[in-house]
Amino acid sequence: MTIQWFPGHMAKARREVTEQLKMVDCVFELLDARIPYSSSNPMISDIIKDKPRVVLLNKMDMADPRETAKWMKHFEAEGVYPVALDAKNGKNLNMVIKAAEAVTKEKFERLAAKGLRPRAIRAMIVGIPNVGKSTLINRLAKKSLAKTGNMPGVTKKQQWIKVGKTLELLDTPGILWPKFEDQVVGKKLSLTGAIKDSIVHLDEVAIYGLEYMQMYDLETLNKHYNITIEENDSYLEIFDQIGRSRGMKNKGNEIDYESVIELVVRDIRNAKVGRYTFDRVEEVGQPDETE
Ligand code: G4P
Repeated sequence: MTIQWFPGHMAKARREVTEQLKMVDCVFELLDARIPYSSSNPMISDIIKDKPRVVLLNKMDMADPRETAKWMKHFEAEGVYPVALDAKNGKNLNMVIKAAEAVTKEKFERLAAKGLRPRAIRAMIVGIPNVGKSTLINRLAKKSLAKTGNMPGVTKKQQWIKVGKTLELLDTPGILWPKFEDQVVGKKLSLTGAIKDSIVHLDEVAIYGLEYMQMYDLETLNKHYNITIEENDSYLEIFDQIGRSRGMKNKGNEIDYESVIELVVRDIRNAKVGRYTFDRVEEVGQPDETE
């Protein structure tokens, strides 16, 4: 689904999430584990304010496990509770419930001290499009609910989904806009499928992905495409070798670059070549600062 975020949409999305926030005890901020910085909304801290927050690093099955471990430590150091999960295959779902219990513990103890009867924790999911919000809600609901459109303002009556004994989840996630001022962030969003339309040119996305692999995982790159790229080869050389190796040629027997580009982007998006994390803690530092 193509999403064009105009200032009006952003304001509306923010308003809607702010309204939903009033109903919940904590927020699950869903990020793509491959790009924990780039997949966060630029104003998330400003929107959530001091509401207890759990960061869910989804799609861990496609991220580099060593980098995910580093990001987990980073979030912990920032005082945010992180959970790495794979919503598609239902991995670590229990930890989502545990995290909600942990971040709301104090609040519920306070309520109990005032003599209020215990009740379920109320939570909502927020995140940019395509990070897996609907997949996670369906998993937690243990049934298939209708996918909400990837735009704010797709109104329907909100309902609470019971998740285990202690948690109730809003069935409608808060959909927030991605970062799009920064070129590199745009490439990472496209490379991981968060943006699938033509905001970013696919050739630049493929080049970014190939150069990343050339730098960090040359052996796998060569093995996967059956090519012999060296450290200093240009991206054109990589395109040519992949094209030849896969027989991607057009009528004039020239390399069909368009097909090579599509193949490379698809392979990286689906983690067919390897499990990569494109945001490195050391490089991006603060993951949730307002830009
Ligand atoms: P959204 O509500 O945040 O917009 O995202 P949605 O749940 O629609 O998920 C976007 C895509 O990400 C879907 O793939 C979904 O299957 C996939 N996905 C969600 N969580 C995970 C995960 O933990 N691991 C992996 N590998 N994939 C995940 P799709 O290609 O759009 O659809 P489909 O192939 O599942 O039909």
